[in-house]
Amino acid sequence: MQKITKIEKILNGERKTMKLLVCVGTNCHLRGSEEVIRTFMEKISKLNLESQIELKGSFCMGKCDIPGISVEVDGEFIENVTPQNAAKIFEELILPKLSGGK
Ligand code: FES
Repeated sequence: MQKITKIEKILNGERKTMKLLVCVGTNCHLRGSEEVIRTFMEKISKLNLESQIELKGSFCMGKCDIPGISVEVDGEFIENVTPQNAAKIFEELILPKLSGGK
C-alpha cells in the first residue's frame, strides 16, 4: 500500500522524458533480458507512461563481465538487473528518475 502511494507521488510530480535501454546482446539475452523488457513494458503500460519512457533494446553494451542484465537510464548504468528483481528495480530506481530524482 505504501509503495502505491510512493508511485503516485512520483507520477504526480514533474515529469521528463526518459530513455530506457535494455541490452539484448547474447550474454544478456541468456540471462533473461527479454523477460526484463516484458516486465518494464508491463509497468510502463500499467502506469500509462508510454509518452514519458522510451524503452529500447540495445546491442551489447560492453559490460558482459558485470553480473545481471545491462540496463541504462538516460545513459546511467544500472547494475545487477535480473528477471526476478526487474519490477522492483523499475519502481525503486527507474521511476524516481522520471520525476527528476536520483
Ligand atoms: S551482452 Fe549485454 S553487456 Fe554484453
